[in-house]
Amino acid sequence: MTNAAFQQCINPDCNATYSIEEVHVSCPACSAKGRNSLLDIQYDWNRTVVPKSFGFFEHRWMTKGEHGAGALDFSGVWRFRELMPFYRTEADIVTVGEGRTNLQEANMLARHLGLKPGNLFLQYEGLNPSGSFKDNGMTAAFTHARMVGAKRVACASTGNTSASLAMFASLSGMTGIVFIGSGKIAYGKLSQALDYGARTLQIQGDFDACLKRVKQIAVENPEHGIYLMNSVNPFRLEGQKSIMYRILEGLSWQIPDWIVVPGGNLGNCSAFGKAFAELKQLGLIDRIPRLAVINAQGANTLYQLYTQQGVRWNGGRYDDEKIRQFYKHMDDTNTNAHTIASAIEINRPVNLPKALRALDTMNGVVREVDDETILEHKAMVGRYGFGCEPASAASVAGAHMLLREGVISPDERVVCILTGHILKDPDATVKYHTGIDVKSVQDKAPREEPHGKMACKPIQVADDLEAIIAAINA
Ligand code: F0G
Repeated sequence: MTNAAFQQCINPDCNATYSIEEVHVSCPACSAKGRNSLLDIQYDWNRTVVPKSFGFFEHRWMTKGEHGAGALDFSGVWRFRELMPFYRTEADIVTVGEGRTNLQEANMLARHLGLKPGNLFLQYEGLNPSGSFKDNGMTAAFTHARMVGAKRVACASTGNTSASLAMFASLSGMTGIVFIGSGKIAYGKLSQALDYGARTLQIQGDFDACLKRVKQIAVENPEHGIYLMNSVNPFRLEGQKSIMYRILEGLSWQIPDWIVVPGGNLGNCSAFGKAFAELKQLGLIDRIPRLAVINAQGANTLYQLYTQQGVRWNGGRYDDEKIRQFYKHMDDTNTNAHTIASAIEINRPVNLPKALRALDTMNGVVREVDDETILEHKAMVGRYGFGCEPASAASVAGAHMLLREGVISPDERVVCILTGHILKDPDATVKYHTGIDVKSVQDKAPREEPHGKMACKPIQVADDLEAIIAAINA
């Protein structure tokens, strides 16, 4: 199995390859020349068995539990394992039944946004065991970590990666170490890392600072024996491809017109582009949907570079100088990311080149949405019976914006990815609906009146039957 898979530098002027048994998060050949290039996992598809049609996966799902593969066939990631064949044997695979998520038709929300009923779908990734899409990638990276005998694993995180890492680390008997920015993490996510028992370091800085530090420790100083689990790890993205396979499955293998996803560190959108490029190469699909990546306005590097400055993949020879200048300006002006959607509060997305490639593969667009719009759309997603954390709602807000612009038309089929569960960040939700900042209640901070259009404020009522009935009917 392993023979078919290898690691490859994404820089077309390098293209160096490495064995799957090696641990890298960037290309060593490029590093030696002072460049930083990401790696891909690639496959020689002639040396592995690839299903000729999606009927293969359909049949596996219909007959799950009958073949003795048990857990693998129940996993929403590994039941597509022929499309990510980097493991040596099935015994390498670390799984907790991740990816058993649903594609939900959302007709009431469709009407609200101006799409025809039947044309809006929400891919509900909050249903994963740790409550976010990250489990799709962690199962793959932990599988590789087990293959190379890793004992300690680490990540920098805005919260969900750390929750997922902490869960998989305890399950697989590895030591989990997470770096989070102090005061930056939603409590739902922090509570997970603590309960799963990860060594949790609250660094005095933001996500970008945490990532720099964890890379220094795990990559620049390999003597610490720490395996890096951030999405610069190319194995993570292999697992995240499965989100796209499940969407196709949910649509009876029809191709949607649009995939809309929030953009933070840009691993997810990168994985989506790779998934579709491979499916096309394998002849399993004949058309690729368009991609919309949605940044929060306060963390909008991709929007600035792609939409405002016109930076493009350009066959891998993207305008590196423009990117360098952009970051230099950010440093010179001491600009930090800032958004209520804390999951995507990232100014230096490590997968930027791969995101440019995905936008090229999927004829993509990038937009930014402000915090108020994110919160309105989050409440809207909740009101129509789904629910998600703030960052996830950026996808729905972005789809709404693209509909208004006429980029998406009402009769196109749109899938928005709901990346994280509604319970991840209850503080943001309560604040939106009540004006109460839960974290500062003890400090007796003044309460604001909620001003959201979708606000659903709790009603204070005396313990009195008539008053209660009046309140219900008001
Ligand atoms: N939505 C949620 C809920 C997230 O947690 C993240 C990323 C994203 C969207 C953005 O995905 O990074 O692949 O572009 N959270 C990371 C973390 C950064 O540390 O949990 P991306």
